[in-house]
This record gives sequence, structure tokens and C-alpha cells, in this order.
Amino acid sequence: MELNILALCYLLGSVSFIIGLKMLSNPASARKGNLVAATGMFIAIVGTIFLYQENGQKLHNYSWIFGGLLIGTIIGTVMAKKVQMTAMPEMVSLFNGMGGACAALISIIEFKHLIEVDPRVFAHLGYAFFSHLDQTKLLIILLGLIIGGVSFSGSMIAWGKLNGKIKDFSFKGQHIFNLLLLIANILLAAYIIIGRPEQSPFYFYIIIFLSLLYGVFFVLPIGGADMPVVISLLNSFTGVAAACGGFLYDNKVMLTGGILVGAAGTLLTILMCKAMNRSLKNVLIGSFGGTSAVGAGVAITGSYKEISLSDAAVIMGYANKVLIVPGYGLAVAQAQHVCHELEKTLESKGVEVKYAIHPVAGRMPGHMNVLLAEADVSYEKLLEMEVANEEFKTADVVLVLGANDVVNPAAKSDPASPIYGMPILEVEEAKHVIVNKRSMKPGYAGIENQLFFQPKTSMLFGDAKKALQDLLAEIRSI
Ligand code: TAP
Repeated sequence: MELNILALCYLLGSVSFIIGLKMLSNPASARKGNLVAATGMFIAIVGTIFLYQENGQKLHNYSWIFGGLLIGTIIGTVMAKKVQMTAMPEMVSLFNGMGGACAALISIIEFKHLIEVDPRVFAHLGYAFFSHLDQTKLLIILLGLIIGGVSFSGSMIAWGKLNGKIKDFSFKGQHIFNLLLLIANILLAAYIIIGRPEQSPFYFYIIIFLSLLYGVFFVLPIGGADMPVVISLLNSFTGVAAACGGFLYDNKVMLTGGILVGAAGTLLTILMCKAMNRSLKNVLIGSFGGTSAVGAGVAITGSYKEISLSDAAVIMGYANKVLIVPGYGLAVAQAQHVCHELEKTLESKGVEVKYAIHPVAGRMPGHMNVLLAEADVSYEKLLEMEVANEEFKTADVVLVLGANDVVNPAAKSDPASPIYGMPILEVEEAKHVIVNKRSMKPGYAGIENQLFFQPKTSMLFGDAKKALQDLLAEIRSI
């Protein structure tokens, strides 16, 4: 009977994951989706702790289990409360690394169990015959170990890069070196499964080392700003490694969770690459988005013009329709609340205000949606790129707030530009474009922006928060 209740817990857990994931695909239901999936995880964990049995025995090491849960809960809660929105990719990376480490640890423990239960263990050497052991189980153990190990060390490097502690590093022939590491790992794994079994524990430890090394060298050369794509890829690796654990323990909820994370991570990676018009290969072995500027594309000549706060206030205050384009700079300045204030003030003067959201604006998927949700901006006001590109044609003013690459027309017109082909927000279709940023410095792609030099564009320099506060005061006074 208890076993059936446990199966029911797992079923509830799995269904909650699927429903939660579905709800995460819409900003309006995303928060609840997170809660639904977390409740499913809670049910699965509690069910396992109190109902799981092995050979008629329940779990008994409760002090370890609850001690671990308590420490994890405290660390997780403090980190989640303290983390800045802009540091979210860092935290995701750290948590993802922990998932990879758990999957690798499961493989290490299960490998030990596998060789211990075999009656023909060479007691004096600690080596075992594997020929009659369950080779499928061994294959899954090794897969979990390699993928989990790569995910752990890769995520740690990604975390270090995002918080600036680790710099990009590469050497000539690094991709070949990485390939050789991978091939060596595959050959060693095959050797353990079918080859000289008595030496396997030694090779098992080499595989652990090589997997960790591969994760490090895989992520080290990738440009710091490309990390969100890499983290999403590593996230899918962790999902697959966790699914291996689910397979080993015949645990359906772990299997379902792992497969969902693996699939979601893969889809997200593909979507991000598509939105940046880059192949995954280019992200992984290209140097785009590194710490140094790329600077390719046609050089821009000409001058830009500045706009005063009072002129900007008049243009916007007397407009019929204003579209706001948020970008990374808005997140850096933490100007989302004052931006919402501006929106409400303009609306009180009869101006229609909407937001145009580019799928890769900011530094993480859904960055702008989360940022604006934090300030209680209505979801109905957020236009996706395709819809926004239609609306720009009828807008009087577009206010670009700390966005750069996602509004760079070079993506359409300059085949030499590194962002050529990336779909962009076509803000130049509006009557006036006001761009707020602190200087003429480039954004993530390290390239100049033709938009800033166009006749209908005016620059409003300054930190987004300060500039919006001042603009708000001006608009209120007219
Ligand atoms: P960016 O092109 O990075 O431009 C951001 C601009 O904000 C900069 O030019 C900067 O200019 C300005 N800025 C910074 N701090 C500011 C502040 N306090 N106040 C006002 N302005 C400030 O941003 P974007 O247009 O959002 O494009 C995102 C880029 O990141 C794309 O190239 C995308 O491919 C890439 N990317 C995105 C993701 C995801 S998933 N979102 C993942 C990886 C890469 P100043 O320094 O002159 O102020």
C-alpha cells in the first residue's frame, strides 16, 4: 500500500513538472508555474524520504538527509533573496553545477555498489570482474558520470566568468585538444564496459578527471557574454545526467524531471541561437561576444544629435503613441520602476504606451519580461518582436532605454557585421527615435550602431534611472 502511495507521489510530481513547465512559457502564469513545479518536487522528495523502501527497509539516515536539506534550504533562500536581477545567469549557473555534481556523485556511488555486490571482487586489489555485470547499468553510470562531471566543472567556469573572476582563455589547437579529451573518455568508458575489467576502478577515476577537465576547457574559451547560451546547454546536460540517475534507481519522477530539463534546456539553447542568428557551433567555437570588442562591419561616419530633457518631454507628452524598447542598460540601471511611472504618467495625458520586447534583449532569456514584471507592468503591454515591428510604423516616438544591438539596423543592411541576419526591432520606422544610454560605447556585440547617427534619432545621454526620473519630472510639468 505504501509503495502505491509513493507511486502516486511520483505521478503527482511528474504531472506537476509538466504543468509547471507549460505555465512557465507565459509571463502571466510563470510565477504560479514555478510554484506548481516546486510543489511537485516537494511531494516527490517527502514521498521518497518517508515511503521509499529497499529490501523491506525504509530509509534510516534521517539526520544526514534533514541536515543536508536544512543547509541547502538556508543557502538557497539567502542567495535567492540577495541576488540582483542582472546576476541571475550566475546563480542559475551555480545551481546547475550543483545538479551536475549530484548526478556525477550518484554515478560514483552506484559504481561502487556495482563492484561491491559482484561476488568475484578481487578482495586484495579491490578490482572487480565486469563481464557478467549489468552492462546497461554500467553504461548509464558512465554516461551520468561524464555528462554530470562536464556540467559541474563547465558551470563553475561559467559562473566564474560571469562574475568576472575568470577571464577568457584559449590556446592554439584547443578545439582539437577538447576533442581528444572527449574521445579519450569515450574509449575509456568502452574499455570499462567491454575490456580489461580488473583495471576498471582506476580507469573510472581517470574518466572523472577527464570529464572535469573537459568541462573546464570546453567553457574557458567562450566569450563571457555568450555564457547564457552555454549555461542553457549545460543545463540540458544536467537534465540528461539526472535522467541517467532516474534510470539507475528506476525512479520515474527523477527520469521525467531529468528528461524535461534536458529537453527544455536544448530547446532554449536553440531558440537563443536563432534569436541571435548564430549557430550553436559559432557560439561554442566563435569569439563573438567576448570581453574584447569585435568591431567588425562597415565603419560609421557622421554625427549624432543630442536632445534636451525638455524637448524629449514635449515630444513624448504630446504624442499619440509611444513605444518603449527596454534593453540590458535598463536592467543595469534598475530603472524598471521609474519606467513604469513614466508609462502611467504618459497614459494619464492620453498617450498610448507599449513595450517592444526583443527575445534576446538583456543577458538572459525573458530578462526584460521578468524585469518589467518586477515593476508590475501589465503583460498585455508587452509586444513580441513581430507585433512590435508592425506597430513602430504607427508610433510617434520610440524610446530606446539601454538597448543597443537589438535595435542595430546593421543586422539588416551590413553583411560584414557580426550581427548580420539577427532579427531586430525596426525602431527607425517610427517618426522619432530617442535613445537613452550613457555614452556612444557599443553593446554586447562590440559594434557601432548606425541607428544613433540617423536623422530621426536623438540621443538622451545619462544613466537610465536618472534620465527617466528627470524626464518624468519634465513631463509632469507640461
Ligand atoms: P546591449 O547591446 O548589450 O547594449 C546595452 C547598452 O546599454 C549598452 O550599449 C550601454 O551603453 C547601455 N547601458 C549600460 N548601462 C546603462 C545604464 N546604467 N543606463 C543607460 N544605458 C546603459 O543590450 P541589448 O540591446 O539588450 O542586446 C542584448 C545583447 O546581448 C544582444 O547582442 C544579444 O545577442 C546578447 N545576448 C543576449 C542573451 C539573452 S538570452 N538575452 C544571451 C547572450 C547574449 P553605455 O555603456 O553607453 O551606457
